[in-house]
Amino acid sequence: MDKFNAIVIRENNNELSFRREMIDLSSLSEGNVIVHVNYSSLNYKDMLGFQLNGGVIRNYPMIPGIDFSGEVVQSDDPDFVVGDEVVLTGYDVGMAHTGGFSEYARVPGKWLVHIPATMGMRETMIYGTAGFTAALAVDRLQRMGMNNPKARILIAGVTGGVGSVALAILKNLGYENITGMVHNGEREQIARDFGADHVITSSRLDKDQKPLTSAKYDFAIDAVGGEVTSQILPAMAYDGIVAITGNAGGNQLFTTVLPFILRAVSLVGIDSVSVDMETRNRVWNLLAREWDVTTDLRVEEISMDQIPEVVNKIKDGQHIGRTIVKI
Ligand SMILES: NC(=O)c1ccc[n+]([C@@H]2O[C@H](COP(=O)([O-])OP(=O)(O)OC[C@H]3O[C@@H](n4cnc5c(N)ncnc54)[C@H](OP(=O)(O)O)[C@@H]3O)[C@@H](O)[C@H]2O)c1
Repeated sequence: MDKFNAIVIRENNNELSFRREMIDLSSLSEGNVIVHVNYSSLNYKDMLGFQLNGGVIRNYPMIPGIDFSGEVVQSDDPDFVVGDEVVLTGYDVGMAHTGGFSEYARVPGKWLVHIPATMGMRETMIYGTAGFTAALAVDRLQRMGMNNPKARILIAGVTGGVGSVALAILKNLGYENITGMVHNGEREQIARDFGADHVITSSRLDKDQKPLTSAKYDFAIDAVGGEVTSQILPAMAYDGIVAITGNAGGNQLFTTVLPFILRAVSLVGIDSVSVDMETRNRVWNLLAREWDVTTDLRVEEISMDQIPEVVNKIKDGQHIGRTIVKI
């Protein structure tokens, strides 16, 4: 463990540079558990981490990578022993605490989840932060009443990480009336290949921002935000629920109160970063067993040196499905 590989982002004169470097443990943030990282993955937030003023990395130099799976090699935490297979998503990792694009990570044990016995380290990162978030959204909606397989469900951002995993889980659970929303027509076939029963493009949404339109959906998982959310809310049916997970299309939300007070629509937020440990364990166990869709997903495996190339694809809106990084 003397010297090992990590991607390091540095800031100099308001410019970012990143490359693979040989570092040692002194370059890692503090923590009471050291993990030999096996896989990491690429998420929308990782792309933001590679941008100056992306709002993700708060201090430089930083090892990016907001999630990882690996094996414990040293531990002062009684809950973890050498050889335990663990997964980490969220908290400050890859933002203010050195992250997963490194052969070793040092973290507080209280951030780690034991990988369920039926799941491998590679499978864990096939889900990664995006898939875990998708599962949180499905779990939340089911707890709020999404139990009828004929429910009309909309997934916005269905070709991306969160959306494609949400779609796979829902299809696997037997839901049969799912509409995938894509950015433009070129992606329609991909959404169908992923299993969407119907596909619409966001450009075909009603741009007039009517306070209410015809009631089309009972539930929605929205990874896009911005104008797309503004247009989903008026199209929700009575008692409809929108679970919002992301802002790939923008932060602003323009709405009226009418969907809420005339159709009893609810807008619920999904956060994977600070979610409690009991929920983390429960949802990872669902993904490892009843909800296992790892073989249904479009997954590309890359090396550390290919990370910048895929980051650019995410930035340019050219990224599809999930990309995992073999560390
Ligand atoms: N709440 C949390 O804890 C949490 C966790 C993970 C991710 N997120 C957030 O969730 C969002 C999605 O993450 P991801 O990893 O799935 O990203 P991703 O793989 O890059 O996918 C983004 C998706 O958004 C779609 N999109 C972007 N702009 C759009 C628009 N104007 N209209 C319709 N679709 C649009 C893209 O569609 P096309 O392919 O058709 O262009 C793509 O399917 C990000 O904002 C991310 O930060 C939040």
